[in-house]
Amino acid sequence: MKIAVLTGGGDCPGLNAVIRAVVRRGEQHAHEVMGVREGWRGLCDPPLHERLTREKVSGILHLGGTILGTSRTNPFKKGSHEQVLKNLKALNIGAVIAIGGEDTLGVATKLHGLGVKIVGVPKTIDNDLSGTDLTFGFDTAVGIATEAIDRLHSTAESHKRVIVCEVMGRHAGWIATHSGIAGGADVILIPERPIDVDKVCDHITNRHRTQNKNFSIVVVAEGAQLGGQDSKVSEKLDEFGHVRLGGIGQTLADLIEKKTKFETRVTVLGHIQRGGTPTSFDRVLATRFGVHAADMVARGEFGQMAALRGNQIISVPLAEATKQLKTVDEKFFSVAEVFFG
Ligand code: F6P
Repeated sequence: MKIAVLTGGGDCPGLNAVIRAVVRRGEQHAHEVMGVREGWRGLCDPPLHERLTREKVSGILHLGGTILGTSRTNPFKKGSHEQVLKNLKALNIGAVIAIGGEDTLGVATKLHGLGVKIVGVPKTIDNDLSGTDLTFGFDTAVGIATEAIDRLHSTAESHKRVIVCEVMGRHAGWIATHSGIAGGADVILIPERPIDVDKVCDHITNRHRTQNKNFSIVVVAEGAQLGGQDSKVSEKLDEFGHVRLGGIGQTLADLIEKKTKFETRVTVLGHIQRGGTPTSFDRVLATRFGVHAADMVARGEFGQMAALRGNQIISVPLAEATKQLKTVDEKFFSVAEVFFG
């Protein structure tokens, strides 16, 4: 069988490990693997593709980014989904493995509804996909954010400053919560809970006054809301209807400095969290997902996504995974709150 593999949406450490695993396991199933370039854009007219062989995917396991390129193309928004169907037929593609997050897999779910034999692999540093305990890329992002928080501690302490560290996390504060716990942040702010600036400032002031501390670290997710509003870089929407978030760190830092009178600085980690080499955990998870996805194709498990449940890789319906985002639950966040309550 000829199968197509594509990577869509924001890139993520571990994408190449999945591609390599799909090709290596696919060859054992006698699949001929085609790499589609630039996500769904590569299946819109004219198709962008290349044959992927064992030789082509050699030496990519540890590399960040994606050898196939990616895009935020939404064929349903552009009205080009009919063209995707035509191209799949013309190229004689028997099955598609789509590696992506809520948007890419949302398209996969719709295409499956139109009869495409499709399998999903959950990717996003945000870790906000339902149906799986973890997405690959998340562990790497948390590691980078934790290292940054560790580094910010010494400079904050030397200068007696508050430092606000803005991390990624559009709808869910998984990166903020994990890195905040691991890095010993004094305040963690996430999209799931509206920011109460007075509470944040009171906490910082108390810490400095009663605990003999003269610095504080605040971790804030880019999607955390002040006054019920997102902080946006621009109002322009992408093809999936998302705005570009950014700026909450600076806004918060200004308010903290004004209210507490403590000198405050801001660090925005941005795409540093998405770039570079994946951790060994992400390489292993991505490899397991890729092998499982090739097996799903061989078994005819279409309309499903590879998922981590406990320590097992299983198959779950794509519709379940894309129905609703997985946000930080109260119980988990309460662990973080022990340290800044
Ligand atoms: O979905 C992953 C993510 O990194 C979000 O946390 C962030 O809001 C978004 O992608 C940024 O996307 P872009 O690469 O288009 O700036």
